[in-house]
Amino acid sequence: MEFLKFEQQGPIGILSFNRPDKLNALSLDVLDELESFLRDAEKNTSLRVLILRGEGRAFVAGADIRTMSGFQAEEAVAFARKGQRVFGFLEELPQVVIAAVHGYALGGGMELAMACDIRVAERTAQFGQPEVHLGIIPGFAGTQRLPRLVGTGWARYLILTGRRITGEEAHRIGLVEVLAEEGKALETAMDVARDVLKGGPHAIPLAKRMVLRGVDMPFPVAQAFEAETFAYLFTTGEPQEGMRAFLEKRRPAWTEESS
Ligand code: COA
Repeated sequence: MEFLKFEQQGPIGILSFNRPDKLNALSLDVLDELESFLRDAEKNTSLRVLILRGEGRAFVAGADIRTMSGFQAEEAVAFARKGQRVFGFLEELPQVVIAAVHGYALGGGMELAMACDIRVAERTAQFGQPEVHLGIIPGFAGTQRLPRLVGTGWARYLILTGRRITGEEAHRIGLVEVLAEEGKALETAMDVARDVLKGGPHAIPLAKRMVLRGVDMPFPVAQAFEAETFAYLFTTGEPQEGMRAFLEKRRPAWTEESS
């Protein structure tokens, strides 16, 4: 891969955006590479948690402004749809995806972090949706994911002013779930990943999908779906092992049969 780097340590994968001279800006080529990586990752059954991070001074400093600067409307809509599709695919991965943010997470970079399941960020990270300063709006679903994460008030404030906030402020408003000390984003994300791995290998992806799908469903429908998903798990052997282990005061041994 030219703009991405991937390494897997057991069930944990680390995907690094690796275009540091452009602060990892998302060009069409980067989005293509990310999409093809994600299609492979979806099928990688040995991978259970994926951590996203950036090389150099930034997580990702946004969609590539040079790319967008020559757009006509038709190219603009294609670019937005592409980003939305790729981030949507990321969000739908069966694996748990953790953003480990340091430095800049601006525009498309913040939208990328919002498409992850969990956000870890260094106190000094810089989040923002500065698109309006360029005469555009967030186009990779930021106008939709941001209010869902932090409420419409903070979403309008951030999108309409284009102001940047630190990781610490982002944590205070609920945009970031876990704060890390400077230089510790990856290490902190690895700790979170290890906790995710303690959960049942069937339960985790189903719990993820349930939350994701449920928010866009009417409550009674989502509730029915939840009960069916809850019941389905009992056909996998996993709850039996998980609860037996609790009662026997030991750690669950997730096996092929129970997982
Ligand atoms: N698209 C394309 N290139 C970008 C970029 C982006 N979103 N963000 C940074 N870069 C490039 C710069 O053009 C520069 O390239 P160059 O060396 O060829 O000139 C390089 O990355 C380093 O950025 P620079 O601006 O010199 O670093 P800085 O420390 O002075 O400023 C930022 C850092 C993040 C404040 C500044 O780069 C910035 O405002 N970037 C754009 C953020 C943005 O608006 N994102 C939303 C886009 S939708």
